[in-house]
Amino acid sequence: MKDVISVLDFSKDEILQLFELTDKFLSGGFRPSLEGKIVATAFFEPSTRTALSFTSAALSAGAKVLGFSSDEATSVSKGENLADTIRMLENYADCIVMRHKLDGSAKFAAEVAKKPVINAGDGKREHPTQALIDMYTVRKLFGTLEGLTFGFLGDLRYARTVNSMLRILTLFKPKIVYLISPPQLRARAEILEELNYPVKELTDVKDVVGELDVLYVTRIQRERFLDEDEYEKVKESYRLDYRTVERMRKESAILHPLPRVSEIDRRIDSMPQAKYFLEASYAVPLRSVLLHEVMAGD
Ligand code: CP
Repeated sequence: MKDVISVLDFSKDEILQLFELTDKFLSGGFRPSLEGKIVATAFFEPSTRTALSFTSAALSAGAKVLGFSSDEATSVSKGENLADTIRMLENYADCIVMRHKLDGSAKFAAEVAKKPVINAGDGKREHPTQALIDMYTVRKLFGTLEGLTFGFLGDLRYARTVNSMLRILTLFKPKIVYLISPPQLRARAEILEELNYPVKELTDVKDVVGELDVLYVTRIQRERFLDEDEYEKVKESYRLDYRTVERMRKESAILHPLPRVSEIDRRIDSMPQAKYFLEASYAVPLRSVLLHEVMAGD
């Protein structure tokens, strides 16, 4: 049993084993089994993909699922604190999948709970299972995770999926990572300090688009802005357009954790580089295998 708070809770070998098991699951050679288990999905923030794919993963492996999708429907709305809520949830389930707006809330929950906690997104900090899906997609497309050229386009200040990706890449030696954003949305210094590979910051994706293996796009994380005026200033500061994608190599890949708002022109969806819906399709198999691994031997 283990908690999943950060991508760096896994070694490189553990990540590759998880991916191999996911391959086996997809080819019919492995079937995660969660018979007799109960998974709690505690979503204090909105979600479509993460909440429902964890639910689908758990149900298809034979587990039962209970949970909530907003703190309004829980006694948090009456003033109950997170620690007490977590103490209750672990009476009802064998594993807690939690999303919360506060940075560090998943680590805190894991310290309170004896049962495993899986971080489904904590504030602007991390979204480790999304990065596992993203890297699984990269490995499927390129046959390797090493030596690739990545571009991250968008809100690099607040996007927790980007933090998890930048951290997981410290295990896989990318050739170079381009961080492409308006100046107000640059990656935070505490993340940049952790990186052990070449990084270059720039503002226009067109300057590097022909070099990229992977272009990872994120929406502006409006819900993280403390000041709505600051959001208004940057809300239309970047958009991936059709003409820019025409300059990408055909075998390169555009990823996006979704939801998309307006940062990728919808006409790009039918271009060969658009892999974000394929990426999303790996969520259930990977999360099934992850739940199995987290609860195996319990
Ligand atoms: N990718 C992702 O976390 O999507 P949701 O917010 O819909 O869960």
